Amino acid sequence: GKAASAGEIPQKAHYSPPWADMSIIGIAGSSGSGKTSLAVEIVQSLNLPWVIILSIDSFYKSLTPGQNAMAHRNEYDLDSPESIDFDLLVEKLIDLKQGKRTDIPIYSFQQHQRLDKTVSIYSPHVVLLEGILALHDPRVLDLLDMKIFVEADPDVCLSRRIVRDVRERGRTIEGVIKQWFRYVKPVFQKYVDPQREIADVIVPRGMQNKMAIQMIVNQTRQILKEKSIRHNAELEKLGQHSEDY
Ligand code: C5P
Repeated sequence: GKAASAGEIPQKAHYSPPWADMSIIGIAGSSGSGKTSLAVEIVQSLNLPWVIILSIDSFYKSLTPGQNAMAHRNEYDLDSPESIDFDLLVEKLIDLKQGKRTDIPIYSFQQHQRLDKTVSIYSPHVVLLEGILALHDPRVLDLLDMKIFVEADPDVCLSRRIVRDVRERGRTIEGVIKQWFRYVKPVFQKYVDPQREIADVIVPRGMQNKMAIQMIVNQTRQILKEKSIRHNAELEKLGQHSEDY
């Protein structure tokens, strides 16, 4: 079962409940490198319940009216770490680790604004945390079980971004290209690319790389198995101790 009922288990301080074993896999890489597609492939190959993809894009900060107007002109930096609410992200990840239901913001790329709506998530076993800066914040790094960096040809990244942003994010071709050379590319060089130094795995060719996906999936299963063995051992220890009371 997912959660043991309180009656069965003596409440002791060192007991770690199943949701405290939640695993988080960070997936960083350039915009348009295929982070989301890779995450979807991992979810499908893992084929386990309670696996979710959490996008760091959900944690973009809301902009002032002035900043918002600049963003609509593609004259605002939405790539540097300051544009993301890492405090809120860390708070939400810790909530989930503690087994709490938590509300995740919904972000509108059309409006460059957080919406009033949120989406509620509860007790996942595996979180795939994807975003250009998934391996940036030291507090997030502390929570990760695996660190992945997706690599792709920059021309491929830009091409994908033009198509996606025009189709799905309400942008113009000229606007996407302007923003790319003004902010996306220089910030990639400054903050995104250096994350490869601390990655456990660098995946070339993203979701096309079936071998890398299989290795990531196998390793994830191994991590889950080890946690479950540790968890059962703790339960057994508690069972023995409970006779002392
Ligand atoms: O999905 P992807 O990783 O491409 O999302 C990150 C990109 O979204 C960043 O490179 C940033 O320039 C862009 N972005 C944007 N408009 C926003 C927020 C982010 O174009 N309002």
